[in-house]
Amino acid sequence: MSKNWLMTRRRALWFGLASLTGIVTQAGCRAMRPSYPIQALEDPARDFTVLGEAYLRERAAAKGLIYGAASGYDKLASDTKFTARFIQECGILVPEGELKWTALRPSPDKFDFTLGDWLSEFAHTNGMLFRGHTLVWNQSLPEWFKDTVNSKNAEQVLTTHIKTVAGHYAGKIHSWDVVNESVSPEHGRPDGLTVSPWLNFLGVDYIALAFRTARQADPQALLCLNEAVGGGKEDNFRRKAILTLLQRLLSQGTPIQALGIESHLGGRLSNADLTTFRGFLHDVASLDLKILITELDVIDKDLPLDINVRDRMVAGVYEDYLSVVLEEPAVIAILTWGLSDHYTWHSTYNPREDKAPVRPLPLDAQLKRKLAWNAMARAFDNASRHRTHIPNPQLSHGTIRETSP
Ligand code: XIL
Repeated sequence: MSKNWLMTRRRALWFGLASLTGIVTQAGCRAMRPSYPIQALEDPARDFTVLGEAYLRERAAAKGLIYGAASGYDKLASDTKFTARFIQECGILVPEGELKWTALRPSPDKFDFTLGDWLSEFAHTNGMLFRGHTLVWNQSLPEWFKDTVNSKNAEQVLTTHIKTVAGHYAGKIHSWDVVNESVSPEHGRPDGLTVSPWLNFLGVDYIALAFRTARQADPQALLCLNEAVGGGKEDNFRRKAILTLLQRLLSQGTPIQALGIESHLGGRLSNADLTTFRGFLHDVASLDLKILITELDVIDKDLPLDINVRDRMVAGVYEDYLSVVLEEPAVIAILTWGLSDHYTWHSTYNPREDKAPVRPLPLDAQLKRKLAWNAMARAFDNASRHRTHIPNPQLSHGTIRETSP
């Protein structure tokens, strides 16, 4: 396991030290389809019932939102039951790894778009938007990178990659994570920026350069900075560093339009951290940027073994977090990092000590809706419709359909 994943685990615990402080949602809606018996466990007063049968993508779209998930090619190309459920629930697909450097760049002078193209075609054929993840990251760099890239050629290597990849998918991408995880206070810099080969070779302006190059290659996609950040005290400096970076980029006229917030959450939330997080979303929106929740899941490695208790706690985190997130009109999309517990990176990166299968996602390993699904559905259903969006008429599926109230 690389250092980065340990960091991700640390960040995932951003709410983790606080106790669950009784955010109880409104109970008592008439339940047409009480999907699950309410267990008198952990928070017996909490009601996760959902009205109606609509899929998540429909519930989100009714509020001017996009819902979707990450998946790899291998699952969508081979598991027909999973694929059918993915098409039902998701309005946007983001490749989990197929657009990263390791997948696209077998050698310094080669690009291999085979799997990315398959996924792009799959999304468009099935009426889904397609997200790009990611053009620039300090992780997922191919083996040849360290022997080939240096301060003399780094700019050319970076811009060639972005021009070629963003150019290849131009017109087909809803949004690009142009730069991923550019802020890592634990790396010790006063500006909080991630120490990466790009930063070492090109200085802090590699970020603006990446955005300018992406905009030239694809004039239509929404260009995002994607960061892992939460509302906990341990992220005080991280939030500040991200805001400072965004302000600097905007003041330089950098073509950045949105902040992606990964949201690999720990198993408990506190009201105080949610309030701080709400303020952060407001601060980002005040910069006239959109916000996407890009990699939502709930790490259950430290939660009780009992599935009833665990699922209720995970669902509570989903609903509490999304309720706060969806108060912010600048939020336009919610993506989970996977759809079914059968395929989740946490099985590898955050396994449970008791070896029980992890349950971080809306559908269980048999593709059945869990309470986390209910929690998401409820958050979408309870969200208001005052969203703003960026119309993108060039993309066949690029606009968020507005429905009459
Ligand atoms: C992860 C994938 O889920 C894993 O399958 C892969 O081995 C490593 O990368 N933040 C990100 C994502 O931006 O790209 C990471 O995805 C999860 C953390």
